[in-house]
Amino acid sequence: MTWEALHLPLVLLLFASGSWAQVEENEVVWAVQQQVVSVKCPSTPPAGEYENKIWCKETKPGYCLKLVTSTRPQVMAQNPPHFIWDNPSAGFFIVIVTEITKKSSGTYWCGIDRGPKESIYILKNISLVVTSIFWAALL
Ligand SMILES: *[C@@H]1O[C@H](CO)[C@@H](O)[C@H](O)[C@H]1NC(C)=O
Repeated sequence: MTWEALHLPLVLLLFASGSWAQVEENEVVWAVQQQVVSVKCPSTPPAGEYENKIWCKETKPGYCLKLVTSTRPQVMAQNPPHFIWDNPSAGFFIVIVTEITKKSSGTYWCGIDRGPKESIYILKNISLVVTSIFWAALL
């Protein structure tokens, strides 16, 4: 059995359940190349000032490369192909990756960026698994 054949049922399951399906803290997201992927990240509406939201890629344990940062509510934060849309009162924000390649595979965090000297507060740890484009034709 090939890698793709092995994972087809899982890919179909993902689409059947909707790509918004939310698992607290950790999530495995399956994607095919050239697909757009969205991830829903939980956030508690802040009592005070807006808290910057971040999407980053874990480069080694405990380290994360910043990809896009949202510094304002209800404004699309852009660093193509990475985007964040945050509506704090909704209790979540949305990360969108508009271009998935084989290299997109890996571990990502969405979280709160507390500035250069402070660490990222991780809201969710996402394992992105990229499978062959072949299956995109079936979906
Ligand atoms: C995120 O999840 C991956 C895969 O399970 C794991 O290797 C990594 O250590 C986790 N990172 C953090 C900061 O929890």
